[in-house]
Amino acid sequence: MEQRKRIVSGMRPTGKLHLGHYLGVLTNWVKLQNEYDCFFFVADWHALTTKFDKTEDLKQNTIDVVLDWLAAGINPEKAVIYAQSHVPEIAELHIYLSMITPQNWVERDPTLKDLAKMVRNSEEDNKPNVSYGLLGYPVLMAADIMMFNVDYVPVGIDQVAHIEIARDIARRFNHIYNVELFKEAVPKLTQIPLVKGLDGQKMGKSFHNDIKISDDEQTTAKKIMQAITDRSRARKDDPGHPDKCEVAFSYWEAFGDSEIIETVKSECIAGKRGCVDCKRQLACAVNEKLRPLRERRKYYENHLDEVHKIIKEGSEKARVEAGKLLAQVRDAVRMY
Ligand code: TRP
Repeated sequence: MEQRKRIVSGMRPTGKLHLGHYLGVLTNWVKLQNEYDCFFFVADWHALTTKFDKTEDLKQNTIDVVLDWLAAGINPEKAVIYAQSHVPEIAELHIYLSMITPQNWVERDPTLKDLAKMVRNSEEDNKPNVSYGLLGYPVLMAADIMMFNVDYVPVGIDQVAHIEIARDIARRFNHIYNVELFKEAVPKLTQIPLVKGLDGQKMGKSFHNDIKISDDEQTTAKKIMQAITDRSRARKDDPGHPDKCEVAFSYWEAFGDSEIIETVKSECIAGKRGCVDCKRQLACAVNEKLRPLRERRKYYENHLDEVHKIIKEGSEKARVEAGKLLAQVRDAVRMY
């Protein structure tokens, strides 16, 4: 049988995930796990590159991320789910890669400036905040990717520069040690458009405009009632403009079936659908769609031992694969 292609992707442990993660990333991962050998991991070392001094929530955030993956339907029988720091082979590979990566490759990483801004400034000190580890962010990512010699890396557009550096590092390794060990992994861009936050900006935890997978139904409904609609509409029987409805209609498009989307559209245009009623209905539709996810999350919240076991067993599986490749790397470099 032909070997399935391999995929790896990771998320930093930022805590509970929101609908942007769900629609933009997780629905895609859930599909991919049926077609590819998938490695999905929590990038907890990457979290340290900017939050080395703010680790109070690191453990809980890691668990929350995995809970949301499981809620969304990532299946540990299909995909390997692990924590980056539980696969020490990645750290060792990172050392070999760090030796062959020219300094100017990492210095030129276009996202480095943004990452540096995420490092908490101590009050009295405004100096640049780039640590040795942060500078190595793309090298560590290269290790994540090369460790499983994957074909594709599903990511958003913001990560493409990193994957390109990883590809250059893979090519350089093969060249320097005169081997054909590493594939040059290619980014697999997610098609789904960015999900807007309740205020019309990009949905994000720090913007306080998000709906979490783990929010309860009441909270979700309350949030949706604040979602921006058609700003030009003064009264509920004025004709509305779904195309100018900044947030609510885009949620209908994401969560409704084609029939309800058409109904919403035509009633809105005809002035037969007030924004308040429309959002009340929308909240029901969103809650209904998320109900099975939330039930799954509740189940795992009440069976945390199962979650720990999934991460532990996934990490063990990952280590087996990583160990095989690392042996070849050590061989190629001619380590004792
Ligand atoms: N840097 C990625 C992000 O912030 C997370 C990540 C770390 C990753 N290592 C990776 C993604 C390897 C894909 C492959 O989203």
